[in-house]
Amino acid sequence: DDCVHPVSYPWRHTGLFSSFDCAAVRRGLQVYREVCATCHSVDRIRWRELVGVTHTKDEVTEMAKEVEVLDGPNDEGEMFERPAKLFDKLPQPYANKEAGRAANGGAYPPDLSLMVKARHSGHDYVFALLTGYVDKPAGKEMMSTLYYNPYFPGGAISMPPPLNDGGVEYEDGTEATISQQARDVVQFLHWTAEPELDERKKSAGKYLSVLAFVCVATGLWKRWKWGPLK
Ligand code: HEM
Repeated sequence: DDCVHPVSYPWRHTGLFSSFDCAAVRRGLQVYREVCATCHSVDRIRWRELVGVTHTKDEVTEMAKEVEVLDGPNDEGEMFERPAKLFDKLPQPYANKEAGRAANGGAYPPDLSLMVKARHSGHDYVFALLTGYVDKPAGKEMMSTLYYNPYFPGGAISMPPPLNDGGVEYEDGTEATISQQARDVVQFLHWTAEPELDERKKSAGKYLSVLAFVCVATGLWKRWKWGPLK
């Protein structure tokens, strides 16, 4: 019913010959960790995958160390906590789905790893959702625990507006407006959904150029072979 279609933006990294903007992905990781990670997981990502994309190996190792993860059982059959290592997943906000629902008025904050791919016009939708909170229109009936967002199907969402101007402080001096943070976190979430995207585009270039060469060579060979008979 009252669901507005998001504006379509020219995301530069989606071009056939363009790669992820690592600076944006790095800022997006920061937004994810400082804002979204309170409620959402990115279950598909392990610390080591950030190495060489957003940070150096030493930096990622340091970041991971600050997080305690549950491991075990040890020889005594007990679970124990230890600092996270590169092979661990990024931390989960809740122990389980029930805890996640309980903390959010019954709505579970979905895993964001594949969100940019899961929703129709993913990039634009997530960007529009994050920047689209407005006062609810007069006369709209809504539970008092929900927030109005015209981009969310039905208009009433359990997620409070997560971004604030200056809500994070970027290391590279970029001004952290709401739309800048949304733009960066969308690019981070595209990377989480397709960490291999740049590599895939590169290989496609190689395969297609070899294929083009083979096609031309086959055509010339055929002409040469049949030439005397025509
Ligand atoms: C839902 C993104 C921060 C709680 C969602 C959805 C997205 C999203 C894409 C899915 C909407 C849909 O189903 O179509 C983000 C991003 C965040 C962020 C990128 C950081 C910038 C937060 C925070 C909280 C939160 C901090 C908790 C305080 C929720 C909840 C839902 C949700 C409860 C389910 C909403 C419903 O089904 O009504 N979020 N979120 N989110 N988010 Fe967030």
